[in-house]
Amino acid sequence: MVDHVPFTDIHMDQETVDDVADVLESGRYVKGPVLEQFESEFAAASEVDHAVGVSNGTAALLLAMKAIGVGSGDEVLAPAHTYFATVSPVLELGATPRFVDIDPDRYTMDPALLREAIQAAEDPATIVVTHMHGQPADMDPITDVAAEYDLPVVEDAAQAHLAEYDGEMVGSIGDVGCFSFYPTKNMTVGGDGGMITTDDPAIADEARALRNHGRNEKGEHVVLGLNYRLDEIKAAVGRHQLDALPDWSAGRQRAASAYDERLMDVDWVVTPTTYGNAEHVYHHYPVQVPADKRSAFRAHLDDYGVDTGIHYERAVHEQPAVRDRVGLVDVPVAEEYCRRTVSLPMHPRLSTEEIDHVVDAIESFEVDA
Ligand SMILES: Cc1ncc(COP(=O)(O)O)c(C=O)c1O
Repeated sequence: MVDHVPFTDIHMDQETVDDVADVLESGRYVKGPVLEQFESEFAAASEVDHAVGVSNGTAALLLAMKAIGVGSGDEVLAPAHTYFATVSPVLELGATPRFVDIDPDRYTMDPALLREAIQAAEDPATIVVTHMHGQPADMDPITDVAAEYDLPVVEDAAQAHLAEYDGEMVGSIGDVGCFSFYPTKNMTVGGDGGMITTDDPAIADEARALRNHGRNEKGEHVVLGLNYRLDEIKAAVGRHQLDALPDWSAGRQRAASAYDERLMDVDWVVTPTTYGNAEHVYHHYPVQVPADKRSAFRAHLDDYGVDTGIHYERAVHEQPAVRDRVGLVDVPVAEEYCRRTVSLPMHPRLSTEEIDHVVDAIESFEVDA
């Protein structure tokens, strides 16, 4: 009998704990061999030449943008629906985000609107896309337009570790990829952590310097860098999580298929769309419900012991810290989506009984009341 379905479930095995103990006993806590191993394994899994571990996903985005030269006065094309941290580094670097609305089915940057947004920009410098909820953005048309205007592409893959688009790993398609290992992500490092991925050795070198006080191999401070390093203990955790990740992604996909099937007949609930050329890794399983019923819907699920989340309450330009710095923004699809979206419990170990319980709770909600 299920009486509580948690939103997520974080798993650490004994081998991870043992490896962390080994690092603690070694006395080598930063800039050591475990991080190097984790970086080379993450690079291999993401099918890139270089991976650079950093202190969190926001730092990954900040350093990646800095490394490709985003700076004061630049404009960065960004999706209107994403986490705040896709855009805060843009503002931190003195650049301005120019928001592109999302595709109503994929919930990622709408490629059909990108060219027009670039043409409207005075000084477009870069495109940043987010593989939102674990769904790869529609990269082919985005990289085509980027090539036409000679703009680099940053992939925010914080929610999409090991997702694939057209046979390519996310984080390997644009010029640089950025990942987060925040505890609730598809994999964690047992705390905050992040990774930058790229095939470009110059970007990798610059990112390595920027995370470590701007130092080069000889120890000279050649650029103005701060400290954004990833610790050895966290790298030890990350190695085990990465190892388990393909199985965990399959578990998330199984849970998503079960939700898809069971919710097919609930006509007031919109479930995520899947695409033949993309492998969704379901960081979230977001459904859309009528905006005016969302609070009641969540309260009803809560009464059934079903935890839910909202990703996110507002489109990014509606956040106070962004709103006053971007002027008028016309992104109706993202705004409407943010009012309708609710994320259901999602993790690799979600059982059939738990999914049945969530769906029973949804079916018993009186949407017309
Ligand atoms: C899409 C997206 N970008 C960036 C971040 C920032 O990552 P972090 O929390 O590790 O700084 C997150 C997660 O929080 C995210 O979901």
